[in-house]
Amino acid sequence: SLLWFAPHSAGPHAASPQALFEEDGLLVVGPNAQGVQVVQAIGAWRALKDSYPQLVVEHLPGRIIAPGFIDLHIHYPQTNVIGSPAPGLLPWLENYTFPEEKRFAAPEYSAQAAAFFIAELLRNGVTTALTFATSHTESVNALFTEAQAQRLRLITGLCLMDRHAPADLLNQGQGAVSGTEQSLRDTEALIQRWHGKDRLGYAITPRFAPTSTDAQLRGAGELARQYADVWIQSHVAENKDEITWARELFPASRSYLATYDDFGLMRKRAIYAHCIHFDDADRALMRDTGAVAAISPTSNLFLGSGFFDYEGADRIGFGYGLASDVGGGTSFSPFHTMLAAYYVGREGQTKPGLSLSPQHLWWQHTAGGARALGLDGVVGNLLPGCEADFVIINPKATPLLARKTALASNLDELLFSLIVLGDDRLIERTVISQAI
Ligand code: GUN
Ligand code: FE
Repeated sequence: SLLWFAPHSAGPHAASPQALFEEDGLLVVGPNAQGVQVVQAIGAWRALKDSYPQLVVEHLPGRIIAPGFIDLHIHYPQTNVIGSPAPGLLPWLENYTFPEEKRFAAPEYSAQAAAFFIAELLRNGVTTALTFATSHTESVNALFTEAQAQRLRLITGLCLMDRHAPADLLNQGQGAVSGTEQSLRDTEALIQRWHGKDRLGYAITPRFAPTSTDAQLRGAGELARQYADVWIQSHVAENKDEITWARELFPASRSYLATYDDFGLMRKRAIYAHCIHFDDADRALMRDTGAVAAISPTSNLFLGSGFFDYEGADRIGFGYGLASDVGGGTSFSPFHTMLAAYYVGREGQTKPGLSLSPQHLWWQHTAGGARALGLDGVVGNLLPGCEADFVIINPKATPLLARKTALASNLDELLFSLIVLGDDRLIERTVISQAI
């Protein structure tokens, strides 16, 4: 079977994405003009088979082919931090996250962590990721190197942090050059070295406003203007204490979110993690600038940060997609993230009916994520022309799944069974688009 999404099945924001499903389907993959494996055709086997008489066909009875998942926000240096208990975000950062991130100053530590991280993404069916590294250039180079070797679509960047963190995690100066200035020079050098190489992309990455000086945010904004197709990633409005702190540090801005706009850090290809505690002016600022939210429900539930307001986002109309936020998040598995998003969607729900349909949840982690990244029609779907990144799902991977999916009488019931009961065991194979 095949699962994919109708083209333009949602507006700039989510609406109701339409999942397409073909019981006896055929996915035709072949090189495009650049020699990259893309989808050539998709649909019913009966309708397509005569057009491709020479095709070497692999039969996958009882399996579902679906687009590779897109994780819009994850921290590769926090793999070991998963499940670290703390009363909230700020003590979690101080007691668990910062001590682990310090280790990434060592290239060998970064290299083994990058290899493990990418293997874990692939085991879970994630084929595109926007990820944080640490404030050490070594950690960025290690991750890009490993992603390039595996042909993963990966976007990352040097974590900008020039205050309010342990000294050995702040961006370091060199000679007469300050840490702030050096971090901006390193960012530009890393853009030139990695952005657009194979399937790699660069993201200008201020960790969050409280750990950057005005000068660093200003410099990051200038780079974002100069390199318009580079991504921007940061965190915003995750936790009440964080917001209070950000408001104290940047009192001239209208809100925490507006701080980023004031420094030129809101535009298309800017992805902000969390976006929980927003007012309508913040939501309108997201919509009007084209910035998007990386919703991280397992993280928000684990750290007690709060609940993303889906109705508010859809009412105003800004873009979003799903993210694990490992290690604040508790799982690499898109199934766990989709299930947590379903729980979150119920909180604060005012409209009758299902808060989030399974098709909408799945879309947020695939085609919706691609749209959020500005990679609509490139990844996150199996429409012709999309890069051939896909997963092969075995809906009978566990005894309970086998029993439950056999009972499904429509697509929604099938997808809900997978979302509620699924994990890495469902992903039988992850296929990454190759190049000749
Ligand atoms: N805000 C600033 N840094 C972090 C981080 O590492 N994780 C989360 N969840 N929020 C943050
Ligand atoms: Fe995060």
